Amino acid sequence: MRSTRPAAVIVLAAGEGTRMRSAVPKVLHPIAGRPLLGHALAAARGLGADQLVVVVRRGAQAVVDYLVETAPDAIVAVQDDVPGTGRAAQCALDALEPGSGTVVVTYGDVPLLTTATLADLVAAHEERSNAVTVLSAHVPDPFGYGRVLRATEGSGRDAVVAIVEQKDATEDQAALTEINTGIYAFDEAVLREALGRVGRNNAAGEMYLTDVVAIAHGDGGRVGAVVLADAREAEGVNDRSQLAAQGRFLRDRLVEAWMRSGVSVIDPATTWVDAGVRLDADVTLLPGTSLLGTTVVLTGSTVGPDTTLRDCTIGPDAEVVRSHAIGAVVGPRAQVGPFSFLRPGTILDEGAKVGAFVETKNAHIGAGSKVPHLSYVGDATIGVDTNIGAATVFVNYDGVDKHRTVVGDHVRIGSDTMLVAPITVGDGAYTAAGSVITEDIPPGALGVGRARTRMIDKWVDRKRAGTQSAQAAAEARARSARNDEQQGEEPGL
Ligand code: UD1
Ligand code: CA
Repeated sequence: MRSTRPAAVIVLAAGEGTRMRSAVPKVLHPIAGRPLLGHALAAARGLGADQLVVVVRRGAQAVVDYLVETAPDAIVAVQDDVPGTGRAAQCALDALEPGSGTVVVTYGDVPLLTTATLADLVAAHEERSNAVTVLSAHVPDPFGYGRVLRATEGSGRDAVVAIVEQKDATEDQAALTEINTGIYAFDEAVLREALGRVGRNNAAGEMYLTDVVAIAHGDGGRVGAVVLADAREAEGVNDRSQLAAQGRFLRDRLVEAWMRSGVSVIDPATTWVDAGVRLDADVTLLPGTSLLGTTVVLTGSTVGPDTTLRDCTIGPDAEVVRSHAIGAVVGPRAQVGPFSFLRPGTILDEGAKVGAFVETKNAHIGAGSKVPHLSYVGDATIGVDTNIGAATVFVNYDGVDKHRTVVGDHVRIGSDTMLVAPITVGDGAYTAAGSVITEDIPPGALGVGRARTRMIDKWVDRKRAGTQSAQAAAEARARSARNDEQQGEEPGL
């Protein structure tokens, strides 16, 4: 690992990004759960530079807010009305204390670039005592990129002499396939001085940062290039189609890394893992699983198929099947799904179970307790080894306020119980199926809150005469009458 630390990293993020066709600034569009700018900052940060500067457009308040929140140490430089990458770099330098050393320039809309690549660039730059080192790449279709012009004769045979933009390129230059990725290492003094001489006399009428290359070369400075092995790493995002393509590429990279560290991923193509997720070895991810935000899955757990978890902690040895969960903690050996919806504040202790068509929110479900079927558990605390019968509702909302329900240990809530909060069900208590419980139940008591069953004989014969129901009832009565007769004859047989 090379230990070179540059003096500063400048991240350019003041471009217009019009092709996104979005009210959201381009660099805030996310892939792998993090804005493009967040990926760029993570790579830049890895260099351990003394200063990190981000150049933003005037009025890009959302970008500034994002930086204040996630990178409070970054210096924000606002680009003025002069357009172009050269002006952007100049605005960044204006925000820095003048110094000496290496300054790296990179882009906020290039999310796949790694710290390792930037470190290689800095190391090559310093080893060769370059004035400028360009990160270049060979691409089959160079259209739109700046082309790297190399010396063809003399001692510095393959020295870089200039970068020419697509719009300004001659036919011969446009035929070159070595492109400028837009990422560089500069000697700070050279950059400052050269930018002072960059004009806007080009096809775009912009201050080109790329002009610094020809200026430094003309002054006798050494300009080199580091050729990137995989050009995709430096690809920018300009539209939503590229956003999706970069998202897939990053997904592949992240999933691959998790597999190498011991996670089984049955179908990498349908598995999405955000950059902020942490997985233990011997976790299994089944097809169609999305692990988002700050989700953590501990060893021995299985997630999926078709499951989305955001900001959850799962396991160890837990199972989440075909479910959706946000901000939930699923404890050791706990079981969730299929078809469960766990909302924020859900905690399942060891061995607890939430089953099919159950929704939970702000619910602490104690060790070994089960909510197996068709229930809503909101604002609840449930003790250990308690069973919540099918179709139970924790009635937490009175139309104005939310209230809590506390259920003790070893409780048996009968199917279809309405627990009208606030309410407490004591340890070892039961409720009768179909009850509406509006009072606390003491330990060991049976709470019954329903009408006694009443029989209205032959109601169907009278009120639904001539229906199949009436006919079925008549036939059943006839059959049972025959049975009675036969039983009556029995002694004579
Ligand atoms: C630039 C390079 C080109 C290179 C290409 C790689 C120049 C003149 N050209 O071209 O050689 O092949 O990148 O993608 O530098 N930005 C600002 N302020 C501005 C303009 C741009 O901060 O006024 C930022 C953008 O946010 C973006 C980056 O600079 O992150 C590049 O801008 P873009 O307009 O995409 O440059 P290209 O024309 O593609
Ligand atoms: Ca671009």
